Amino acid sequence: VIKRLLSTSQKLNVTSNVTVIGGGLMGAGIAQVAAQAGQNVTLVDVNSDVLKKSEERITSSLMRVAKKLHKTNSSDVEAYVNRARSRLSTSTDPVEAVKRSDLVIEAIVENLDVKRKLFKDLDVAAPSHTLFASNTSSLSIKDIAQDVKRKDKFGGLHFFNPVPVMKLLEVIKTDETSPETVKAFEEWGKSIGKVTVICKDTLGFIVNRLLVPYMSEAVRMYERGDASFQDIDTAMKLGAGYPMGPFELSDFTGHDTGLYIQQIFHKKFPNDPLFKPIATVKKMVDEGKLGVKSGEGFYKYNK
Ligand code: NAI
Repeated sequence: VIKRLLSTSQKLNVTSNVTVIGGGLMGAGIAQVAAQAGQNVTLVDVNSDVLKKSEERITSSLMRVAKKLHKTNSSDVEAYVNRARSRLSTSTDPVEAVKRSDLVIEAIVENLDVKRKLFKDLDVAAPSHTLFASNTSSLSIKDIAQDVKRKDKFGGLHFFNPVPVMKLLEVIKTDETSPETVKAFEEWGKSIGKVTVICKDTLGFIVNRLLVPYMSEAVRMYERGDASFQDIDTAMKLGAGYPMGPFELSDFTGHDTGLYIQQIFHKKFPNDPLFKPIATVKKMVDEGKLGVKSGEGFYKYNK
């Protein structure tokens, strides 16, 4: 067991080959942090325009990181960005891209059938040692892995937005994920500078399972007129030590995303009052008040 574990983790050292499938918001961030950590990364998306835009976003994000590290030295900044960029390639062909991969992280559209089909194809194409992970927020890892043979090498790697900034990485294990795979995921997480926590394959994992009812209760408190939303934010920042209040946070993440996640929880736990639909949030989404990104949520923002 120790031998196998070692060989898996050796394959996932800083020079490992990582394939990130889905080049949108999350996939681009994951590809960036892996390339920054010295790994060879292939970023895959079905849409080549998305890849072009993501490459531009990654370059400017790398610039910000490099400027923080090498404040005044512009040649060091340039070298840092170029080094990371040279480790990153792009592709529109997932099957071809996983052929030399040690780790595949999927961050495509949140649709069970599409994810299942993707992994079924990748299972045939990837080498037998390759580990598979999904970055899903709301689907069951076990369901996504349904048509894959290597269930022992399949788990979740759940990142947080913005990936280059947020320190946490949730490692998700199903009943069939092997301890070696969990260990390799933890080590890989460390290698890219994240702090890992382990959670079973349960709806919302750790963070969202606690955050969704908390945010919903905050809105209910405001709906009842118990306190203003500004005062609830102040109370949670100064009384509970949270960096943002629940209304600031929901404006930041977007009320469309919040409503979507809330509806998933309600579907899964229809009788639980914690997950009952919230009229205020639904109304805000219908009115286009999505939060920071639309210029208005609970608060108003300069676009
Ligand atoms: P996004 O919409 O920005 O990116 C998804 C990308 O996947 C798109 O560019 C699309 O062209 C591509 N795609 C769709 N089907 C594909 C396929 N079969 N093969 C290759 N590429 C394909 O979405 P986002 O926000 O990056 O989310 C991706 C995943 O990450 C979802 O599972 C989501 O639940 C999860 N997630 C999202 C977070 C967030 O804050 N947005 C946080 C943590 C997880």
